[in-house]
Amino acid sequence: MMQARSDRMRRQFKTIVFIPTMGFLHEGHLSLIKEGHKYGDDMVVSIFVNPTQFGPGEDLESYPRNLERDLVLLQKEGVNAVFTPDAKEIYGKEFQTYVTLEKLPNYLCGASRPIHFRGVATIVAKLFNTVKPHVAVFGQKDYQQLIVVRQMVRDLNFGIEIIGAPTVREPDGLAMSSRNTYLTPKQRISALSLYKSLQKAKELTKSGIQDAATIIDAATELIQSYPETDIDYIAICDTETLVDIQTINGPVQMLLAVQVGKARLIDNMLLNP
Ligand code: PAF
Repeated sequence: MMQARSDRMRRQFKTIVFIPTMGFLHEGHLSLIKEGHKYGDDMVVSIFVNPTQFGPGEDLESYPRNLERDLVLLQKEGVNAVFTPDAKEIYGKEFQTYVTLEKLPNYLCGASRPIHFRGVATIVAKLFNTVKPHVAVFGQKDYQQLIVVRQMVRDLNFGIEIIGAPTVREPDGLAMSSRNTYLTPKQRISALSLYKSLQKAKELTKSGIQDAATIIDAATELIQSYPETDIDYIAICDTETLVDIQTINGPVQMLLAVQVGKARLIDNMLLNP
């Protein structure tokens, strides 16, 4: 049905803009929609909590959901179609074709979540083939995901323009995420350490420090000074290949993942000396 709709829209020379989500929408998602409106005249949003990107013991079952509320929000944002498939429709009987990337998933979140990017690339490819967009918008908060999707689109000739939209933050700096709802009030304070450490890194880079290890040490110390934080990784990488950088001579991406209570939080920032 969605494929037939997309064909119809394309025959009417509409430019389809697509925003894939897992629902439980917040201001971050809504900003992707606002950005997307600039690129076309048919806005499609999908809501699907994709089981193949969750590893064993992760939060697939408890991932927050509220379809009714999401649909009200999407209507207000002028979305033309919402695609809410169920897992049986997406992964039919005997499903066995996955999209895997050779290098990018070996780093950062991919190193701690081994099947995650296989699941992401596969669902995004399937959604692209169903929604047939001209443009798709992804948040820069999931920086590695954005790079993975761009690479897949290039490698497999999807012919879709991928837009990266800036991270939306709470007034105090915490990056918006559906997983923030897992935080207790005390953990919410600790969660701010991610943004604070990125800010600190930015200051240090601006003050002329070029040694990535020095900056990572300062970020580690800052995060560890907050209770209930468990650092998964802090890295300073090439913006495209995600390979670690030792000496900062130009723009680099700093990325981190920290477990705070039940929430695995990620954030990133461009460091520009
Ligand atoms: O970023 C997300 O919400 C998901 O990873 C995505 C892109 C919708 C794929 O399931």
